[in-house]
Amino acid sequence: MQKLTLTQPDDWHLHLRDGAAMRDVVRDSARQFARAIIMPNLRPPVTRVTEAAAYRQRILAALPEGSRFDPLMTLYLTDTTATDEVLRAAESPVVHGFKLYPAGATTHSEAGVSQLEPLYPLFATMERHDVPLLIHGEVTDSDIDIFDREQVFIDRHLAPLVNRFPALRVVLEHITTREGAHFVRDSRPGIGATITAHHLLYNRNALLAGGIRPHFYCLPVLKREPHRQALLAAAINGNPKFFLGTDSAPHPRQQKESPCGCAGCYTAHAALELYATAFESVNALDRLEAFASFHGADFYRLPRNTRQITLEKSSWQLPQQLTLGGDTLTPFLSGAPIEWRVSTP
Ligand code: DOR
Ligand code: ZN
Repeated sequence: MQKLTLTQPDDWHLHLRDGAAMRDVVRDSARQFARAIIMPNLRPPVTRVTEAAAYRQRILAALPEGSRFDPLMTLYLTDTTATDEVLRAAESPVVHGFKLYPAGATTHSEAGVSQLEPLYPLFATMERHDVPLLIHGEVTDSDIDIFDREQVFIDRHLAPLVNRFPALRVVLEHITTREGAHFVRDSRPGIGATITAHHLLYNRNALLAGGIRPHFYCLPVLKREPHRQALLAAAINGNPKFFLGTDSAPHPRQQKESPCGCAGCYTAHAALELYATAFESVNALDRLEAFASFHGADFYRLPRNTRQITLEKSSWQLPQQLTLGGDTLTPFLSGAPIEWRVSTP
């Protein structure tokens, strides 16, 4: 296939940061996607509807002239989130869910949740008012191997949670394991998952074989090859529970290339091209539109986009470096060739 026209996609998991950094990256997402679920892990985190509305205005103000990109906001759940905030979120046209970070699980998660059970009354309110709960599904216990943290979270916390709240809509974000994919597949309706392009394309060898490559480091960390294959199978099989979420997460180059490099891969510069590469690798380009443009909108009960976007088979070189505020940003696969290109904005 040389050309692929599809309904314009949305990104159901995106980090834009704020200020000058946000102004540098937002146009990459707006070039491809009509909408994106915006992660609230700023410092300080976005915990209130009023803060989310103000953050949304800053994003809109940073967009290129004429852009119709629509940021869909989320709130950061903490141990002290009030029931009233859930009620305000339910009423708000700009907030589309709460994001649950286990405290310490990932970048900017210090203010996250220390225990789930005390939050059960909040989950009951979300369930009653149909507010989606978006979960970073990893335990943080130091005695649990980092490659097992998603599976242990599912067994210990997620399975009980989805049983206890049978009408709560839950997104298990950026799944990385066969267990994650199978859990979502086999769960009741109302349980979905996002899948990143980098987890569809690479296994943990990319991160660790032949040298440590910090630009492949993200959380949840890349896993073994059979897990990558299970994610690809989930993404291409037409199951509406699985949808596109880049988890594109920009960090200054020097913070990734450091003795304690931080987690996050910046993929927004070529997101759809990376997904097309993954789908083409298993001859499933005809499945890309549903995954990228239909399933997420249906899950969030938003209208599907009506405009179209075209990808062309044409080799080009990904940028070596970009800018991020006053810093340098090394994009994912910096300088590498790629075979697909979005040809219509
Ligand atoms: O790799 C990651 N980076 N995983 C996350 O969950 C957060 C993200 C970030 O904000 O940098
Ligand atoms: Zn994320």
